[in-house]
Amino acid sequence: MDRMSAKVAIVTGGARGLGGAAASALAAEGASVVVADILTDAGQEKVDEITAAGGTARFALLDVRDADAWARVVDESIAAYGGIDVLVNNAGIALPRTIEDATLDEFKHVMDINLYGPFLGIQAVLPALIARGSGSIINVSSNSTEMIVPTTTYYAASKAALANLTKTTAVHVALKGYEIRSNSIHPGPHATAILEAPEVARMPHIQQMRETVPLGRFGRPEDFGSLVVFLASDESTYITASEFFIDGGLSRVSYTNARG
Ligand SMILES: NC(=O)c1ccc[n+]([C@@H]2O[C@H](COP(=O)([O-])OP(=O)(O)OC[C@H]3O[C@@H](n4cnc5c(N)ncnc54)[C@H](O)[C@@H]3O)[C@@H](O)[C@H]2O)c1
Repeated sequence: MDRMSAKVAIVTGGARGLGGAAASALAAEGASVVVADILTDAGQEKVDEITAAGGTARFALLDVRDADAWARVVDESIAAYGGIDVLVNNAGIALPRTIEDATLDEFKHVMDINLYGPFLGIQAVLPALIARGSGSIINVSSNSTEMIVPTTTYYAASKAALANLTKTTAVHVALKGYEIRSNSIHPGPHATAILEAPEVARMPHIQQMRETVPLGRFGRPEDFGSLVVFLASDESTYITASEFFIDGGLSRVSYTNARG
């Protein structure tokens, strides 16, 4: 299990959920992983879990909205592991509102975390990837860029913008001649805390989606971890500016929006 040996990866929101699964999967393939999160206890637990399994990881306190914190995490990561090869911009939140219920302050809050956070991360980490001579940026978007659900006013906008930030970054670094790739992952529903939050779990479309997924189940965090490893590794060096849907085929099926 050495598809990521000698590589260093920062995973935001790495304490739990999909980011936690990505951190574990990268470490299991030999990466040194920086688990970056606002949750200190859960983040340290993830590090302990990885270490107990024989992997290499450290926790970094990071609010993705904070440019100074990003600079510190980059410095700490380089000091600890000698460089950075992979950035997984995974931290994100969902705050369900329709356009009638939405407020500008809430919208800005979601954009701060889901879009401007990854922007700050790319800017902070890019010099380290350039110094390394290669690298992979993986931005966690959502299949909400394809599946329109009326309560995802903030979320779907943030994730669609992130998908295009991924591509402008990809084409820029490629044209500069850097061997740095940038791709987005678009998960459908996976069984994590974001989906189990009461506000989200009671949404009618969640149950409807569960019944509609062609592959017959919601995603497992390990499914997501496998895709992250592929995009982070040298197995995908000709892949950039691309969107990867991991949703059991859900976004390719037409379905009737719930009304109410
Ligand atoms: N779970 C799903 O079904 C699903 C579907 C589509 C997309 N996604 C996306 O996948 C990503 C991970 O989702 P998840 O389900 O694992 O969520 P989660 O809530 O389980 O985990 C999110 C992690 O991000 C961290 N985080 C939140 N705000 C942060 C901030 N400001 N700075 C640093 N860390 C912060 C949290 O502490 C947490 O550890 C998100 O971007 C989400 O939008 C998830």
